Amino acid sequence: MRVLLNEGVPGLAGGDGPFPGDPADDAALEHLYAYPDTSARAWVRANMVATLDGGAAGNDGRTASINTEPDNRVFTLLRDLADVILVGAGTARIEGYRRAARRSGALAERAVAEGRGAHPALAVVSASGSVPPILAEEVPDRGPVYLVTCEAAGEPALQRARDVLGAERVLIAGRDEVDLPRAVRVLHERGLRRVLCEGGPRLLADVAAAGVLDELCQTVVPLMAGGRAQRITAGVPADLHLFPRLVLEADGTLLHRWIRDGA
Ligand SMILES: NC(=O)c1ccc[n+]([C@@H]2O[C@H](COP(=O)([O-])OP(=O)(O)OC[C@H]3O[C@@H](n4cnc5c(N)ncnc54)[C@H](OP(=O)(O)O)[C@@H]3O)[C@@H](O)[C@H]2O)c1
Repeated sequence: MRVLLNEGVPGLAGGDGPFPGDPADDAALEHLYAYPDTSARAWVRANMVATLDGGAAGNDGRTASINTEPDNRVFTLLRDLADVILVGAGTARIEGYRRAARRSGALAERAVAEGRGAHPALAVVSASGSVPPILAEEVPDRGPVYLVTCEAAGEPALQRARDVLGAERVLIAGRDEVDLPRAVRVLHERGLRRVLCEGGPRLLADVAAAGVLDELCQTVVPLMAGGRAQRITAGVPADLHLFPRLVLEADGTLLHRWIRDGA
């Protein structure tokens, strides 16, 4: 992996190197993707992969068919750095999401020392209040699962979710729909401050439109897939302006870090 652009992130390290042309090893990547201070408010980073022709999934409807090794490397690092992975119920179902694995080596030790836990949490966003069955059971050495939902899910669905996840893991934010700014505040109050949104396209559009997206990490893989895949956002208009702060390249895969104006 090598650096093509490194503008740094205001208030963060990064502009101090590595510089364009330099290689980026694991320690450099950790430095380049560091979260800012989240003591006062959460920082919401999204991570999405797209083909050269803009598709958010391969022709089988899954992201696994367009991922590359460099994308997987940064995907894993971004999970390791996060407190909570925010994902739409649709993606959790289609991609067969499981509870998050333990962070890698030193990152797990540091997170535990900081009181952040060895595993990131997973927070599934669902207006209908449905917990994908594969996520319902506690699994040894895997992170906790939260449901982020709204009152409109209805008492039977909410009760089912409380039964499988525990009442403290069912977060109700909003009446008729999920109020995403409120949901992010509630996560922050629970100590889940470094948020990593992994989509899907509908959730990402909603997060961007709600004004809570601070950063987009986008991977572009060297593949034109054609077909009918949707873009990385779908649904509501967002009109969010972002600026490129970091571009990495490895084997034709481009990895970008874009920051919202004023974040
Ligand atoms: N390229 C990438 O990086 C990437 C990342 C993730 C997913 N994908 C692909 O995207 C496709 C899935 O797309 P999608 O747009 O359907 O995924 P999605 O946003 O994960 O799922 C939509 C469902 O999630 C829940 N949801 C999403 N946003 C919500 C909100 N603001 N409030 C309440 N509930 C919300 C709803 O669930 P309920 O129906 O339960 O209410 C909704 O039906 C798959 O092909 C997947 O492979 C690609």
